[in-house]
Amino acid sequence: MSALPKSRAWRALAAHARELADVHLNDLFAADEGRAPSFSIEAVGLFLDYSKQRLTRETRDLLLGYAQQQELTGWIAKLFAGEAINHTEGRAAYHMALRAPRDAVMKVDGKNVVPQVHEVLDRMTVFAENLRSGKWKGAKRKPITDVVNIGIGGSDLGPRMVAEALQPFADGPRTHFVANVDGAQLQAVLEQCTPATTLFIITSKTFTTQETMANAAAARSWLVAALGEKAIAKHFAAVSTNLAAVQAFGIAPQNIFGFWDWVGGRYSMWSAVGLSLMVALGPERFRELLAGAHAMDSHFQNAPPEANLPVLLALVAFWNTNFLGATDQVIAPYAQRLEKFVAWLQQLEMESNGKRVNRAGEALDYATTPTLWGDVGTNGQHAFFQMLHQGTAAHPVDFVLIAKPDHPHAELNQLLLANCLAQSKAMMRGKTAAEVRTELSAKGLSGAALEAAIPHRVFLGNRPSNTLLMPQLDAWHLGALCALYEHRTFVLSVLWDVNAYDQWGVELGKQLAGTVLKAIQGERVKLDSSTQQLLSRLADKA
Ligand code: F6P
Repeated sequence: MSALPKSRAWRALAAHARELADVHLNDLFAADEGRAPSFSIEAVGLFLDYSKQRLTRETRDLLLGYAQQQELTGWIAKLFAGEAINHTEGRAAYHMALRAPRDAVMKVDGKNVVPQVHEVLDRMTVFAENLRSGKWKGAKRKPITDVVNIGIGGSDLGPRMVAEALQPFADGPRTHFVANVDGAQLQAVLEQCTPATTLFIITSKTFTTQETMANAAAARSWLVAALGEKAIAKHFAAVSTNLAAVQAFGIAPQNIFGFWDWVGGRYSMWSAVGLSLMVALGPERFRELLAGAHAMDSHFQNAPPEANLPVLLALVAFWNTNFLGATDQVIAPYAQRLEKFVAWLQQLEMESNGKRVNRAGEALDYATTPTLWGDVGTNGQHAFFQMLHQGTAAHPVDFVLIAKPDHPHAELNQLLLANCLAQSKAMMRGKTAAEVRTELSAKGLSGAALEAAIPHRVFLGNRPSNTLLMPQLDAWHLGALCALYEHRTFVLSVLWDVNAYDQWGVELGKQLAGTVLKAIQGERVKLDSSTQQLLSRLADKA
């Protein structure tokens, strides 16, 4: 058992949570007219209002005290010093170096890695520009019209999310993403493409991931069937840290873009993993994405904890999870183009902090990452928001809102903003039985019918939420937003004392898939009766 829950700072927070148990958000707002500005922070163009969280100034001080006990400042320094804080794999977590300016000095094992980062960025730039200008010709001397990124997890979600978020800026070849080993996805993409004008980017840090290798092999067969083996040099590129495996696959050395073991998969879209983005959006816009993230890195590294956006965002999540009993975290971007942000964040947070032992390997007796889920507003309002308002538990929500639309429909935008603000207000204030009674009485309801109707229409309120405002959905601010959540994840890992940068939990399923595959292919392997039964039924129906 970890000793953490017994620490003085933890106990102080637990006692304070008990004191606040009967305090409603409405009381907190009524008691303090200046509550909103006191619980807001702006950094790198992003504005966070966390005044609708169930906390007070004392809560914040106690949380900051806990962060201090956990030596957060020291951990931030270690992160930025390139120390091997991913101790189970002996690696640094140095994604910040991927977005550092050319003249920065950031060292891993005593070596400045910034020059090699920019060397790859420069090679990507030439490659992307050649594709975008049509200078790059396929095997049939035709320019490339479609680029297909084949990768999964961190080699897919980030680029896929950014491509959709920044779609209005896309002026290069069309970009497609294939991740799932369900062949339906690859097939749907291939049906939109022509071999002579398609280029595949195989993106895999390890270049061993079963799904990616299988999809890459299928894409290769599709291309070779149409254009022959020699065409591979003009129609395949790869992004990986495993250069030997890429070459074995047959990809021409000049089309291979490397990155490094100090870049975790879910933190990798800033590296050559973002090559498809650079092709779609252009090198300049890709560098704006990096610059926005770098601005957030500098803020995170230098701002004191009490004025540090990622730190405060993490402290709020820690408070909700470990002291108010929240078991999930909802993300509701009120921006259609941020739909995939939820999936990206799920991997970022749950693959990083979904851990049951602390850094020393001891079992934890407190919750780590809550389940993270959500969908874009206003769609979610007509699906799961009922539960957010009237379910038995509180589900903290992060609303993400964009001030300036990039479409001409001003009236739709007003409606979108109004809905977002109304939802957080409704979650906060609720509606009392007395209010419902007055409302229904005015409509003529009375007696038993009135009494029966009331409980169904009561909202308890007191449901916490953050609202994060972005001025606009451009590359720079999107970079800042993603880096904000990356650092939030890191801060949470420090508060929980877990390693955010390994992911041993995905290994067992991978191993067992190998065994089950053998059974499907007719080999005799020992399986449990449930798996055996399901395989038999699948075989019968196939
Ligand atoms: O799902 C586990 C995982 O290892 C992720 O961490 C990673 O992003 C994904 O698989 C893909 O890995 P790779 O880039 O090596 O193919």
